[in-house]
Amino acid sequence: MDNPFVYGEVVPGDAFVGREAELDRLVADLGSSQKVFLISPRRYGKSSLIRQALEALSRRGALTVDVTVSSYSSYLAFLEGYARAIAAVESKWDRARTWLTSAIASTRPEIRFEPKETGLGRFTVVFPGVTTSRDVNRLANEVFALPGRLAADRKRAVVVALDEFQAIDGFNGGSVEHALRAAAQHQRQVGYVFAGSEPSLMDKMIGPRRPFYKAGPVMRLQKIPAEVFAEFIERRFMKSGLRPELGLGAAVVDLAGNLPYDVQRLAHETWDDVRAAGRKRATLDDLHTTLARLLAEQETLFEAVWQRLTLPQRATLRAVVLQSGRELHSADARTRHRLGGPSSIQASLAALAKQDVLLREGARYVVVDSLLREWVARRTY
Ligand SMILES: Nc1ncnc2c1ncn2[C@@H]1O[C@H](COP(=O)(O)OP(=O)(O)OP(=O)(O)O)[C@@H](O)[C@H]1O
Ligand SMILES: [Mg+2]
Repeated sequence: MDNPFVYGEVVPGDAFVGREAELDRLVADLGSSQKVFLISPRRYGKSSLIRQALEALSRRGALTVDVTVSSYSSYLAFLEGYARAIAAVESKWDRARTWLTSAIASTRPEIRFEPKETGLGRFTVVFPGVTTSRDVNRLANEVFALPGRLAADRKRAVVVALDEFQAIDGFNGGSVEHALRAAAQHQRQVGYVFAGSEPSLMDKMIGPRRPFYKAGPVMRLQKIPAEVFAEFIERRFMKSGLRPELGLGAAVVDLAGNLPYDVQRLAHETWDDVRAAGRKRATLDDLHTTLARLLAEQETLFEAVWQRLTLPQRATLRAVVLQSGRELHSADARTRHRLGGPSSIQASLAALAKQDVLLREGARYVVVDSLLREWVARRTY
């Protein structure tokens, strides 16, 4: 029996829990060719939700394209990867080449086929003739027009997902946003989802005076309801032949701060340990043993994080952990944790958030990585 819990990658359909309303809405919006912004902190499950939506839309006959913007090292590399992903909708590579060559007039695309030992292999697209930034901008306009052209040529709806979209900010400043927005706006048969995991950057991008202002609906992904996740964990333990002690699911969700990634990680690792011990029952003790193992394994990493922090930041981080992120500015908390004045606490909180250590959730702060939170609680003073 395989481990039923998945983390660190987009979850397959059978490990996907909850999100029914979000999925319905995303599918409906994309199906009616809207330009949707999907925003959440890291590891909440954007990519997994997008994958489910694209699969549903593809079953309904749409052509789907999925590109992770942050994986490219330059604007040109992104345009090449994006053009490739769109052309790859055509599974026969010589037809993909013919189509792309006819669609891009400003330069000659070179399509290289890389055969694999097994399976179909893949091809890459390069634009060797593009050298100046003017060439890049001209090419961008043509690449951004491709989804519309694909929809017209194939007489099918097209849905494009641009994941880690905040990375677009690093390419060529505002002109990318302009070009992309201008192209997308005219594509009546193309739905877009722009997903981003840095809420502050994404919020700026959809703010007034930016090209994507009011371009389409904004979806903010929340956490999965704790009871739903807890029930799912227990059900999957049960189905895979390990009987969970009552309350195990809730304890996993709680320890993991209900961050989807951390929930699945803790469940996965606990399942492995119980299985390796050859037992048929997973208890709360097992969960804590696994947690202790994970903390020990990550000790060096957490020490490095801790060393990087200034003393006021360390004190603030400890206060967030020990106060569950609440009432940090109260006189009581400030004395107890030997924090400085309000402005110094504020500066530390901002610095910790910027380093992705903390996250603001409504009125409280939470430690992003639940293992780091436990480590700080147990190993620092
Ligand atoms: N609906 C879900 N059901 C179960 N687990 C989920 C779900 N969504 C996310 N997860 C868990 O969270 C992990 C991260 O999910 P995903 O990669 O989709 O998030 P993300 O928001 O795209 O993260 P990142 O910002 O790192 O790209 C998954 O590997 C999985 O363990
Ligand atoms: Mg993602």
